[in-house]
Amino acid sequence: MKERLALALDVPLDRAVLREVSHYIGVLKIGWPLILELGLDGVRELVRSLNWVEVIADLKLADIYDTMSKVVTKLSFVDSFIAHSFIGIEEALGPLKIDLDQKGKGLYLVLSMSHPGWDDEVYPKLLEVVRKVSPKGVIVGATKPTMVAKARKDLSKARILSPGVGAQGGSPGDAICAGADVEIVGRRIYTAKDPVMESRAVLKALEERVSQCLRGT
Ligand code: XMP
Repeated sequence: MKERLALALDVPLDRAVLREVSHYIGVLKIGWPLILELGLDGVRELVRSLNWVEVIADLKLADIYDTMSKVVTKLSFVDSFIAHSFIGIEEALGPLKIDLDQKGKGLYLVLSMSHPGWDDEVYPKLLEVVRKVSPKGVIVGATKPTMVAKARKDLSKARILSPGVGAQGGSPGDAICAGADVEIVGRRIYTAKDPVMESRAVLKALEERVSQCLRGT
């Protein structure tokens, strides 16, 4: 099940601790906080020091293609990128998708964010963009399992990643039970007194919840 859990590493963790954490969590998500803290070389080295199932760069790309292409070229050590879907297709997500396909990289589009200020009135419009771009997957907050279930119904083949487990209130396993593929956890793990034990606890809670919903209870 560890491939269904992602660590949002927004602050550096001790290398030995991270190695232990990776026994319970298969996917790594990195973003601006870690890049600004460690620098690009530091993040590249940290990413390469362990065997992750997938490394995702969460830079929330939202620009014209020409600029986004310069950014993704610098991050050749990751497997996938998250971009905003509201930027549209022509000269933006269209060429970005082609570029990433050629590089063998994945693209995830934000479909529904996890925080309370996000307005899901935009969902139909974003879904239209997602359907046209046909990315590897979408991001739908774990704080809203009903939106996860809706996205799963609307996009049967897309991978769904759900941030918001732990600090933002999502419970381990709820998003997966609603149709997500991967749940993303940040602060609950990296601010824990013992991030290794916390990772183990989150994985155990996720496994229990998922086996419960598979049994229909
Ligand atoms: P916490 O500490 O809240 O970390 O467990 C969550 C991580 O996920 C990012 N995040 C999002 N990324 N769409 C995204 O693409 C979202 O709706 C969303 N909500 C949170 C956040 O930046 C952090 O790295």
